[in-house]
Amino acid sequence: MGKFEDMEFSLIPEERYEDVIHHLRNNFFADEPLNSAVSLVQPGDPHAELEEHSLNTLKDGLSQMAVHRDTGQVIGVALNGIQGPDDLAASQAKLTTLTDEKFRQIFDLLYGANLTLDLFRQHGVDRIFECRILSVDKRFRGRGLARELLRRSEEVARENGFKVFKEDATGFFSQKVAESVGLQTVHELRYEDYTSPDTGEVIFKTKKPHESLKIMVKILQ
Ligand code: ACO
Repeated sequence: MGKFEDMEFSLIPEERYEDVIHHLRNNFFADEPLNSAVSLVQPGDPHAELEEHSLNTLKDGLSQMAVHRDTGQVIGVALNGIQGPDDLAASQAKLTTLTDEKFRQIFDLLYGANLTLDLFRQHGVDRIFECRILSVDKRFRGRGLARELLRRSEEVARENGFKVFKEDATGFFSQKVAESVGLQTVHELRYEDYTSPDTGEVIFKTKKPHESLKIMVKILQ
């Protein structure tokens, strides 16, 4: 019997967007290492900004899901979006208008780290394929599902002619998954070194074994 016999993989059609959000509320919003470090939400709770971020990414039409055959439930997703050269600066400017301080802190870190790189110029491209959210249902973790979703995402990127495949991997397991499909770290920021300019305190006290943010890239030939 195949490893993923009980699952079906596909691009995510619009009629499943709500089910994807439901999955993320229960498995990603509270669990992702940075969200968890700042207690962004309780498991199951909605989060307006994260849901907008997820829906905007879904609309790019490049996201992958795994559905459990028996129940029809969405049990894993890779939400993939297209990044353009001016998007980071625009997203960063928009952050200042948001009221959720914790959400702002997380995206300040992510956008700031990305702005230290110039992947567009470095690779001579005007769009980057970005895996923004990788999430697997708690009941199905540790079976290689995230790896399979990322592998399939890479295929989607290739089919759509992207040269750069990128992920901001915020925790140890997503970093292992990305390495296992050939992404390499181009920038690493240790959370213990990321401190408040006012108080000197570490901003993200992540749980073990999550120690750093890694911006990871694979060049698709
Ligand atoms: N304990 C020990 N090892 C683990 C665990 C665990 N809890 N979870 C995964 N691993 C290991 C696996 O053994 C495997 O290593 P191996 O290849 O050496 O065997 C590797 O990590 C990858 O395992 P997968 O089974 O492919 O990953 P999984 O399907 O469990 O999903 C994921 C990993 C997506 C990180 C999941 O734990 C999750 O949804 N976490 C909450 C959300 C999150 O943190 N997402 C990533 C943030 S970054 C981003 O979204 C771009």
